[in-house]
Amino acid sequence: MVKLRLRHVGIMVMAATASSPTGIYLDNAATSWPKPPAVVEAIVGYDRDIGASAGRGGYRRAVEASRLIFDTREAVARLFGVADSRRVIFTLNATEALNLALRGWLREGDHVVTTSMEHNSVARPLNHLKEERNLEVTYVPCSPEGLLDPDDFARALTSRTRLAAVIHASNVCGAVNDVAAVGAACREREVPLLVDAAQSAGSIPIDVETLDVDFLAVPGHKGIMGPLGTGFLYVGPRVRPQPLVQGGTGTNSEDTRQPEVLPDYYEAGSHNALGLAGLRAACEFVADVTPEAIGARKSALAERFVRGVDEIDGVTYFGPRDFSRQAGACSIQVAGLDPAVVGLRLDAQYDIMVRTGLHCSPLAHTTLGTIDQGTVRFSFGYYNTEAQVTAALQALAEIARG
Ligand SMILES: Cc1ncc(COP(=O)(O)O)c(C=O)c1O
Repeated sequence: MVKLRLRHVGIMVMAATASSPTGIYLDNAATSWPKPPAVVEAIVGYDRDIGASAGRGGYRRAVEASRLIFDTREAVARLFGVADSRRVIFTLNATEALNLALRGWLREGDHVVTTSMEHNSVARPLNHLKEERNLEVTYVPCSPEGLLDPDDFARALTSRTRLAAVIHASNVCGAVNDVAAVGAACREREVPLLVDAAQSAGSIPIDVETLDVDFLAVPGHKGIMGPLGTGFLYVGPRVRPQPLVQGGTGTNSEDTRQPEVLPDYYEAGSHNALGLAGLRAACEFVADVTPEAIGARKSALAERFVRGVDEIDGVTYFGPRDFSRQAGACSIQVAGLDPAVVGLRLDAQYDIMVRTGLHCSPLAHTTLGTIDQGTVRFSFGYYNTEAQVTAALQALAEIARG
C-alpha cells in the first residue's frame, strides 16, 4: 500500500498498488496499471530462470520455453472458451490482431459492415483496404451514447457482406455493445464476425463458442492485465485469413514455404516469451477473480465518477447512463477549457493521469458530438479505488471552478 498526499486536494489517498511510483493512474483503457504481482514475477522469472527462445532448440530450457508458450495458449483458450488452443494466434497487441483479421481475410470488392464507434485500428485498415482492394464499407450509426442497435446492424448485412466488424466496448465512452445479438444476426446470414474486444476482454465474460465469434481481437495488456507487447487473435474454424508475415517458426525448417498448421501459419519469428509468461499469469489471475467481478468493479467506479461529475457545474459526461453497459472509460468535457489543458492540470497539479483528445477514434467522437476538441477520458481499472475517484472528482471540481 502506498500513501500519497494530494496537496491541492487536501486528502490522503490509499492506493491499492503493490509497489509504486506516485500518482493516480486513470488511463487503464490505454494499458492497465499496475499489473498483478504474479504477472511481474512471471516476466522477471522467465528472464531469470529460462531466457531461451521457444521452439528454437532441443535443450531443456528451450523446451521449457516452448512449454510455457503452450501453457499460455491454453490459459487464453480456457478464459475465452476456445476449444482448440491452436486457434489462439499471438500478436503484439490488438492492432496487429485486427490487421491480421482484416488484411488477411478481406478480398477485392468485398462488402464490410461495421459501426460508427470503431477505433482507428479498424477504421484505418478498412480505409486503406478500400483503396487497395476496392472494398465497400457500411458504417452503421450508433446512438449519441455510443451504443449500437443490433437491428440496425442486421439490416445493413447483405448477401455480399463478407465480414462484420464490431467494437465490443468503446475506448472513448465505455459503451458496451450487445455482441451476442449482433452475432446471432451474422450467423443467420452466414456472415463471419470480427469482434474488437480491446476494452472488454478481461472485464466482460467472452466465450467464443457461445457467441459464435469468428475472429476475436484482444490485447493482453489492457483488461487482462498482462504486459505490453502481448495480444492475440482467435481465428475460428469457419475462416482462414492469409498470414501478415512469413518466416521462421522453429518447425519444418527444411521447407521454404510457411507451414500450414496452426498456429505456425500465422506466428513467424521469435515469440515475446517474456510477455507471454506474464500473459499466462494474467489470464490465471483474471480467471481466479473472474471477469464478472473485475467488470463489476470498473462499472461501479465509473458510476461513482459519473454521479460525481453530474454534481459539478460546467462538466459534461458523454456515454451510457445504464452502468451495466459502461466498461469503465468515462469521457467528459469542462466548459471553456480545452481537454488538453484539463489533462495537463490534472497531471501537474494533482498527479492524476488521464488521456485527452481524440483517443484514436475520430468516428466515435463524431458519434458522441465531441469531434471538435475531443474529451478528457478517465478510465478505471481493477486496482483503482473509490478514494481515487473522489480525489479525481475534487480535482475536476477545482479545475472547473477556474
Ligand atoms: C477499441 C480499441 N481497439 C483497438 C485498440 C488497439 O489496441 P492495442 O493498443 O493493443 O493495439 C484499442 C486501444 O486502445 C482500443 O481501445
